[in-house]
Amino acid sequence: MTEILIRGRVLTFVEEPRHIDDTSAFRYFEDGAVLVRNGKIAGLGHFAEVRKSTSVETQIADHRPNLILPGFIDTHLHFPQTQAIASYGAQLLEWLNTYIFVEEQKFAKPEHASMIAGRFMDELLSNGTTTAAAYCSVHPESVDAYFTAAEERGMLVIGGKVMMDRNAPEKLRDTPQQGYDETKRLIAKWHGRGRAQYAISPRFAITSTPAQMDASRVLVAEHPDCYVQTHLSENRDEIAFATSLYPDAKDYTDIYARYELLSSKTLLGHCIYLSDREVSVLAETGAVGVFCPTSNLFLGSGLFDRDRFDRAGARYSVATDVGAGTSFSMLETMDEAYKVLHLQGQRLSPLNSFYMMTLGNARALGLDDRIGSLHLGADADLVVLNSRAKPSMELRMQVASSLVDELFVMQTMGDDRCVAEVYVAGKARKHPLQRPHQIERPEPELI
Ligand code: GUN
Ligand code: ZN
Repeated sequence: MTEILIRGRVLTFVEEPRHIDDTSAFRYFEDGAVLVRNGKIAGLGHFAEVRKSTSVETQIADHRPNLILPGFIDTHLHFPQTQAIASYGAQLLEWLNTYIFVEEQKFAKPEHASMIAGRFMDELLSNGTTTAAAYCSVHPESVDAYFTAAEERGMLVIGGKVMMDRNAPEKLRDTPQQGYDETKRLIAKWHGRGRAQYAISPRFAITSTPAQMDASRVLVAEHPDCYVQTHLSENRDEIAFATSLYPDAKDYTDIYARYELLSSKTLLGHCIYLSDREVSVLAETGAVGVFCPTSNLFLGSGLFDRDRFDRAGARYSVATDVGAGTSFSMLETMDEAYKVLHLQGQRLSPLNSFYMMTLGNARALGLDDRIGSLHLGADADLVVLNSRAKPSMELRMQVASSLVDELFVMQTMGDDRCVAEVYVAGKARKHPLQRPHQIERPEPELI
C-alpha cells in the first residue's frame, strides 16, 4: 500500500457556480490536505483532521501556500499537431490543406508518433492537464503511440484514429472498410485497458463519404460505451462545403444526426454557427458542443455563444484544440474564453472558469464519478497551482482581495509556470518521463 498526504490550500467544486462568489458551489480548506491511497483519494479536508487517519509510513508533500485542485481536463485537441502550432496566416480549410495534412503524414512512422506522443503527454502534464480527449492521425500506429504514452504516465485519456476517406491527401485516406476494421481493432485493444477510453473519430463531414459515415454509425451502434468526436460548424466555408456534400441533410448538424452519431457521449468541436434548430438538436441528444477559444481566435473562425447553449439547455465543454489552439495551458485557454464571451456581452466568472476546467469538463465527459473533483474514491489526479509564479503575478497578488480574485489573476496572467506540481493517480508527474528520441522502458503498472 502506498500512501501520501498532500498538504496545501485545497479547492474543489461540487456544483456549477451560479454567481461571481457562489460559495455553495465549492469546498475550500485553507490548511487542507488530500490523502491518497493506491492512486485514489482516501481522505479530504482540514490537514489536522485528515492527518489522524494516516500511519507513520505516510509521506507528506507540503505544498503550502499553493492551491491544490483536481487536474485540468482538455476535451478536444489533436496530438499529431503538436509541432504544427503557430502555423501562419490561413483560415480553417486552407490551414488544414497547407499545414495539417502535411504534418499528419509524418505519423505513418511509428518512431515519430512515439516521440511526439511522449512530448505531448509531458506538455499536458506540465500545464496541469491530467485528462485529454485527443484525435490521433489516420494511422493506427499513432493510436498505439498515444495510449502507450498515456499508460506509461498512468493518465486517463480518451482518443481515437481519425477516419477520413476523401478531401485529404491520398496518404492520409483510409476507406470505409479500413476505417471500420482499424477502429474495431483499436477499440478491442485499448478501450477500457487501464484508464484508456476510445473515441470513434470521423474527422468531419467534409473528409468522410456517406459510406464512411455509415460505417461510423455501425461502429457507434456496436460500441455505445465509446465516445464519438468530430467537428461541427467552425467556419462559414466549411459549413457551405459540408452541407453541399450532404444535400439531403437539413443542416450540418443533421448530417451527424442522420448517421445516429449524436448522443451524450458525442463531443462536437467548435459549434459556432448553429441555427436554433441545431442547438435544440444538441440539447435533445445531449451531445456536447466544445468551446475552443484560442483556436477560434487564431483561425479567425468566430465566437462561441455560451449563453445560447445555456438558454437551450444544451451541454458544452472547453478545450485547447491544439494545434489550431495556441497553447496547451487551460489557464491561457480560459483567459481567451473570458475575452471571447466579453466581446459578446457575456461574463465568465473566475469560479466558473475553474469549474469548467475541472468538474464541468468531467461532467461533459460523463466521468465526474472518477475525475474533475476531489471526493472520496475519486482518482487522485491533482494540480498544484502557484499564483505568484511570475514577478508580475507576485506584485499583483500583493493586492489580491479574495480567493476569487486570486483565481482571476491566475487565469489572466498564468500559464505552465503556475503549475508547481501535478499528480496522476497519486504520483508526482510535473517532470518529463522521457526526453525526445529516447524511449524509456514503461513504468510498472499501477496497482
Ligand atoms: N476540422 C477538421 N479537422 C480539424 C482540425 O484538425 N482542427 C480544427 N480546428 N478543425 C478541424
Ligand atoms: Zn479539432
